[in-house]
Amino acid sequence: MARYFKYKSTADVMADAQSLGHELALADDLSPLFRPVTIGGRKAGNRLLVQPMEGCDGTLDGRPDELTFRRYQRFGGGGAKVIWGEATAICDEVRANTRQLLMAEHTLTGLEQMRRVTRAAHRAECGDDGDLLVGLQLTHSGRYSVRKPLLAMHDPLLDPLIVDKSTGRRVDASYSLLSDDDLKRIEDQFVVAARRAAHLGYDFIDLKQCHRYLLSELLAAKNRPGEYGGCLENRTRLIRNVIGRIRSEVPGLLIATRMNCYDGIPYRGVGEGENFIGQPCPHELPLVAAFGTNPHDHREEDLTEPLQVARDLRDWGVSLINVTLGNPYGNPHVIRPAEFPPIDGYYPPEHPLLGVLRHFRVARQIQAAVPEIPIVGSGYSWLQDFAPQAAAANIAAGHVALAGFGRATLSHPDFARTLQTEGRLNRKQVCRTFSYCTGLMRAKDHPLGQFPTGCPPFDKEVYGPIWKEVEQRT
Ligand SMILES: Cc1cc2nc3c(=O)[nH]c(=O)nc-3n(C[C@H](O)[C@H](O)[C@H](O)COP(=O)(O)O)c2cc1C
Ligand code: SF4
Repeated sequence: MARYFKYKSTADVMADAQSLGHELALADDLSPLFRPVTIGGRKAGNRLLVQPMEGCDGTLDGRPDELTFRRYQRFGGGGAKVIWGEATAICDEVRANTRQLLMAEHTLTGLEQMRRVTRAAHRAECGDDGDLLVGLQLTHSGRYSVRKPLLAMHDPLLDPLIVDKSTGRRVDASYSLLSDDDLKRIEDQFVVAARRAAHLGYDFIDLKQCHRYLLSELLAAKNRPGEYGGCLENRTRLIRNVIGRIRSEVPGLLIATRMNCYDGIPYRGVGEGENFIGQPCPHELPLVAAFGTNPHDHREEDLTEPLQVARDLRDWGVSLINVTLGNPYGNPHVIRPAEFPPIDGYYPPEHPLLGVLRHFRVARQIQAAVPEIPIVGSGYSWLQDFAPQAAAANIAAGHVALAGFGRATLSHPDFARTLQTEGRLNRKQVCRTFSYCTGLMRAKDHPLGQFPTGCPPFDKEVYGPIWKEVEQRT
């Protein structure tokens, strides 16, 4: 099967981008990565950011557990100055998996300890944590809630891919939607969760609007009737109300959001073995339920609405936007360009570099629309050893303010410190986008209903045996 990542030098990467019809800059001067940046009046000591990376390793009742603390200790000590704590559900029935973290009375001590562990590790390894920001992503999993899908809208392409495990029934047009009153209660839950996060000392919260979880689905809910669907003003009602209430009820808390700026449509594998290649699911045009997507050609982004939402978010008081794309269940090649497909995925339908370039292109346009607030770019890990050079070029040119590293942090949690001291990553720890971490996320045959995730190839001691166990069970 095709191997895409064959680069020996930055020149090779740039030449490949050019052969694909795109410009990509990589910079040998990494100093832009180590310039401080101001986020909502607070200083972050460098431009390197650990993306929210769910470990699926909490307790059944939603508290961080041993492996969770280990991860945050490693992230905290790794040298990045913004640590974006992972998806944490705003109430029990909206968790995406049985071990997802939960914000609730009984989890407060654990979530506070998680923050303390992160900061203590940072002080131990980096000296000063006065310029470190630690946040938490607050989520409602919507249609991907593990107990029962909770839909904001009917999506003709995503509905048939979802089974309600509580009944065994596939979701169809007769499946009931969350009511407007339900959404009002969800606003309350977001505000309570934000207040709790502030009380625990988190510097910022992320109102998660990505990857087609609930708030991301609402952005696309053109066909939803009532106060929260149809026009863009209605589709942003929930986030607008929540931001307004947090600003008045929890003053001082920085508000961030991770937002899908291009949804695309779901793909499925077609073919056998290594020819099992992603193809778009059959669909009718115009598309009715994909945000940031040209309704006449799903492969193209249409950023008219995302740009407007970014400007609105800035005006409503959001201090930081983390730009992302795609749907981890529907089109994994969009959210996480990878050399090897995840267990529930397909071989890539496009050169993964095109996926990386899509991330860069979209983030750049959002940053240009809201130069007053910092934008975080995503999708760097496929670039492997060259990800820092791409990040440095993007930051030097002002295309984004911060570079978010996702899978790269599981294999190489001290990537930022290594870059600063050695001027390069440690080759033996660079994520090769093998997708085992996603495989672990998808592995459910575990007494707690979910295997924990991490990096089996490069964090072997802990995750090697866990991966072996998954293999034995399948
Ligand atoms: C194991 C795993 C867990 C993830 N958890 C989250 C999460 O909690 N919240 C989120 O917004 N994205 C999550 N993501 C997506 C990543 O943050 C990131 O956007 C994606 O991996 C692409 O960036 P990368 O190329 O640097 O890996 C997760 C991805 C993986 C592989
Ligand atoms: S398992 Fe490790 S090497 Fe593979 S994609 Fe995940 S972080 Fe990267």
